[in-house]
Amino acid sequence: MNLIKITDLNLDQVFEIFDRADYFLKNKPIFKYKNKCVGLLFFDESIRTRVGFEVSSWKLGLRPIFISKTKPSKSRPSNFQVDSWSESIEDTIRTLDAYFDAFFIRHSDENIFKKVLPYTKKPIINCGNGDDEHPTQALIDAYSIRHRFGRLDNLTITLIGNIKYSRSVHSLLKLLDFFPNTTLQQIAPDKLVIKNSRDIPAIRKQDLGKEDILYSAGFAPTTPSGTFSQQTVKKYAITLEDVSRLSKACIIMNPLPRIDEIDFDVDGTKNAYYFRQNELSLYVRMAIIDLLCDLK
Ligand code: CP
Repeated sequence: MNLIKITDLNLDQVFEIFDRADYFLKNKPIFKYKNKCVGLLFFDESIRTRVGFEVSSWKLGLRPIFISKTKPSKSRPSNFQVDSWSESIEDTIRTLDAYFDAFFIRHSDENIFKKVLPYTKKPIINCGNGDDEHPTQALIDAYSIRHRFGRLDNLTITLIGNIKYSRSVHSLLKLLDFFPNTTLQQIAPDKLVIKNSRDIPAIRKQDLGKEDILYSAGFAPTTPSGTFSQQTVKKYAITLEDVSRLSKACIIMNPLPRIDEIDFDVDGTKNAYYFRQNELSLYVRMAIIDLLCDLK
């Protein structure tokens, strides 16, 4: 199956992924597939998602092949799209469909999957499409929460930063719709406050203390509503003073990369959980491949 949006999964499938990730965490590595090749088409920047899926594929016995965007040829007509050798993305997918057993795609275009889906029947995993969705990151985030608390309901999660334009937050909020008993709060500049099907009250940093999870969305340097001053970014960065307000059990999460949204001296606190979250991601990615990509 494809994983384009987090809502492509039902709750049973989400839990199946988590249980399989638990299994891979305890029994590693498992080279269970042979003679299968997966394509990592990353036409936009990535460290974690790209290398994470590369290593996860390898640990399952698959052969991952990474393809990045190359510079367009100046000799090509300007109406050619710039993805991959100035070829149209449709032709690239049609070509690679003959070689790969599954695709992992990151692209800056939110509508990329509308373009590529007609040209392959192979499973496609969305590794981030513009500002829209990042479903594998949401699964990693939710799994990391379950790993720490043993549940995803009856928790309080405070989101901080550029919530409105964070694709990780978009997917995570949709995933959390499965858990209506979990309470959400947000700390963001007025123009970045998110409106959702459920009420997400805006609080201030001074009100921190009730949450189980403080999820930092970071600040993309530009958004459709403009750029943000260093003063704004600093105002919403997590500092040691903010950490002093948190409960002992509260975890600080971040999809990474961390740019300037969490002070480096927070890393040494017991609340910092973002690098553990990243460690766990490997097993979630293995589970996603194993359960969704139909590679037998
Ligand atoms: N969390 C995340 O998507 O990181 P990368 O951009 O490095 O893949």
